[in-house]
Amino acid sequence: MLRTGRGSAHAKVILFGEHAVVHGAPAVALPIDGLGVCATARLLDDVDDVEGSAAPAASDVERRPGESTIVTDVYSGPLDGAPELLESPRAVILACLEEFGLSGSGVEVTVTGEVPHARGLGSSAAVAGAIVRALADLAGAELSQELYLDLVGVGEKVAHGAPSGLDAHATAAAEPIIFEAGVARVLPHRTRAVIVVADSGVAGRTRRAVASVTSFLERHPLRGPALMAGLGALAQQGALDLAQGRPEQLGAKMAEAQGMLRELGVSSPELDRIVDAAVGAGAYGAKLTGGGQGGCVIALAADDEAARRVATAMRLAGAVATWQHRLEGSSS
Ligand code: MEV
Repeated sequence: MLRTGRGSAHAKVILFGEHAVVHGAPAVALPIDGLGVCATARLLDDVDDVEGSAAPAASDVERRPGESTIVTDVYSGPLDGAPELLESPRAVILACLEEFGLSGSGVEVTVTGEVPHARGLGSSAAVAGAIVRALADLAGAELSQELYLDLVGVGEKVAHGAPSGLDAHATAAAEPIIFEAGVARVLPHRTRAVIVVADSGVAGRTRRAVASVTSFLERHPLRGPALMAGLGALAQQGALDLAQGRPEQLGAKMAEAQGMLRELGVSSPELDRIVDAAVGAGAYGAKLTGGGQGGCVIALAADDEAARRVATAMRLAGAVATWQHRLEGSSS
């Protein structure tokens, strides 16, 4: 067996269909491969090794006498002061140790990366995905797509309650996907444009946002389902625009989706301001991405130069960080 295993996973953005996907509608997500997390899993000889290890002060140590000694130093920066964010990685580690026959071994798992937490970029799924891959690598275990999704799903349930599964699939995808009823399909696409991702700096809690949409549906038995169907239809039509290379139409549909998400109550004044600034600076369209009520905005720009202008406008409107992701069209 190896002494050290490594794994990584990337962030994602949801182009269309967040929230509606929880209620059975389709959604379109894109991997953001330049933004990711890496995990290292190291086999420890005994508890002395743990105590002697150079684990930073922020690490979280769990001892289970007679079983495993697990050290998780997960995201020592962004997770500082938020111990509840360690619950999901811990659940994933325990499930992996059992699945890969490592229960009883001392294992140190370290996760580093730059995906900000609670910003709708799939950080919990990316952390879980990197951990699963690192522990499978350590154990020399074969990791089927199905097993990967099951193990990431363990963490997603802890983090989000009743996740649709979209984020777990998106961390495993190398291309845009359309996801519906638990099944993801790769979307061949011909669109050339740049996605600008802007962090509002405000935490958005997916579990809370999902609960607020459920409550909206209870309070609005006609309008609620109409909005779910509308967001699902935009995902279907947007997938076609992506495939056919129609960025203007994609942008117009993003604007429509933002209007529906705002009506559902998952946007916020901060997000609206950033969306408006992006469109004012020439983006084809812009919308929140992920759970909302904080988190990130995505905008679609024609090319790198337009993306720089849009990113500057989004920062002036309050975004604390921006990233750019080029859509180049797929080979298939
Ligand atoms: C979170 O990234 C996306 C939501 O649709 C929740 C989910 O799909 O589980 C808000």
